[in-house]
Amino acid sequence: MNILILGKGGREHALGWKLLQSVRKPHLFFLPGNAGTLSVGVNLEGDYNKFNDVKRTVVENSINLVVVGPEEPIAMGVADFLEDMGVRVIAPRKNVAFLEASKIKAKKFMKKHSIPTADFVTFDNYQRAKAYIEKVEKFPVVIKADGLCGGKGVVIARDKKEAEDTLRAFMVDGRFGEASRRVVIEEYLEGYEFSVFVYIEGERYAVLGDAIDYKKAYDGDKGPNTGGMGSVAPAVFLNPGMREKVRKDIIDRTIEGLIKDGLYYEGFLYFGLIWTEKGPYVLEYNVRMGDPETQVVVMIDSRDWLEFFNGNQLDKKWPCYSRVCVEVVLVSSGYPLKYEKGYIIEGLNRVEGVNIFHAGTTLKEGRIITNGGRVLNVVGCGKELKEAREKVYKEVRKIRFKNIFYRKDIGDIQRWKGIL
Ligand SMILES: Nc1ncnc2c1ncn2[C@@H]1O[C@H](COP(=O)(O)OP(=O)(O)O)[C@@H](O)[C@H]1O
Ligand SMILES: [Mg+2]
Repeated sequence: MNILILGKGGREHALGWKLLQSVRKPHLFFLPGNAGTLSVGVNLEGDYNKFNDVKRTVVENSINLVVVGPEEPIAMGVADFLEDMGVRVIAPRKNVAFLEASKIKAKKFMKKHSIPTADFVTFDNYQRAKAYIEKVEKFPVVIKADGLCGGKGVVIARDKKEAEDTLRAFMVDGRFGEASRRVVIEEYLEGYEFSVFVYIEGERYAVLGDAIDYKKAYDGDKGPNTGGMGSVAPAVFLNPGMREKVRKDIIDRTIEGLIKDGLYYEGFLYFGLIWTEKGPYVLEYNVRMGDPETQVVVMIDSRDWLEFFNGNQLDKKWPCYSRVCVEVVLVSSGYPLKYEKGYIIEGLNRVEGVNIFHAGTTLKEGRIITNGGRVLNVVGCGKELKEAREKVYKEVRKIRFKNIFYRKDIGDIQRWKGIL
């Protein structure tokens, strides 16, 4: 069986690593992959956002199954395109991509199906949005651009001025082009964030796992937002009762909602959640796996994910975890703003007992060099959080490249002191 994985990040390396352990012994190909995916498969040249490249790759390598990592090709309809070619694809169709690609449509879907989410209003007219903000008494409020903004389209406005400035930047100046001409303004929720990952095939599903991610660049959740600086799985503050509530109130209602609306969903669904005083709420959906969360989720879950893709073991149960995994993302200093690349990475062969999933790396004259902001994801596991954390940081210190930077507080218990 030949599997093609679309993408080039740590998420795709981790998915490949996971699938390679299947009893079905697949051969893996990546479009385009990175230096790390070379250790689990073959890297192919091309752009996964260009369907012609995808088609050529599928045909030339006799691909039986395509797994899609990132959101752009999904929103563009790569699943429909491959289906029409008669190739099996693990990604939702274009008609359900709105769950991620339009925050307005996703919020309306949640409201319609009584899925707990922050109260909200939507606007496509700047004057009306501004008039609404004039009357708001309680800040912060959350302003979200409707479309895909690469994780930069949400602002937590602390006062009227910040809210108005954001509305102007989004709706008038078009900071994200068409994607920010329309907005959601929603209630600010306080609580503990976590994510849940589910593989869905129509009305059946498998819960893959839950995780916590670290979006801010610096320790103590300070600094600018990034694509992710670390992750912990499982979400250590959840207990079986809380997970059951998420399943009933959120996962089941979402899947029933899709069916009621006549929408077929097949592929991964990522639930971005927050646990508040009143229980779990949905912040957002993503129609794919998360990066860097996939890298820890594949390591806490011992099941064979290829079985899920074949329609087996979709038992809707939450898996039992026997360990905790902590992931530290090594970045080029300056990321997510300005950073340099092209530096040799050393020490990888001295690392032991942890997994390394590559992100921005490439091979040049036989050496692995940095090729992006996020460079490597190092994952260590242990019986308990503390053990996993110590293990991963001990190994991280062996890795060197010029301008290396990483957060020192991933998996620090302080973050959950109010709930643990
Ligand atoms: N209603 C809300 N209340 C409090 N924080 C929020 C709310 N909505 C979003 N956030 C914060 O903003 C982040 C980004 O929002 P999200 O909806 O996940 O958008 P995206 O990931 O597409 O940028 C969340 O991870 C969360 O920290
Ligand atoms: Mg998010």
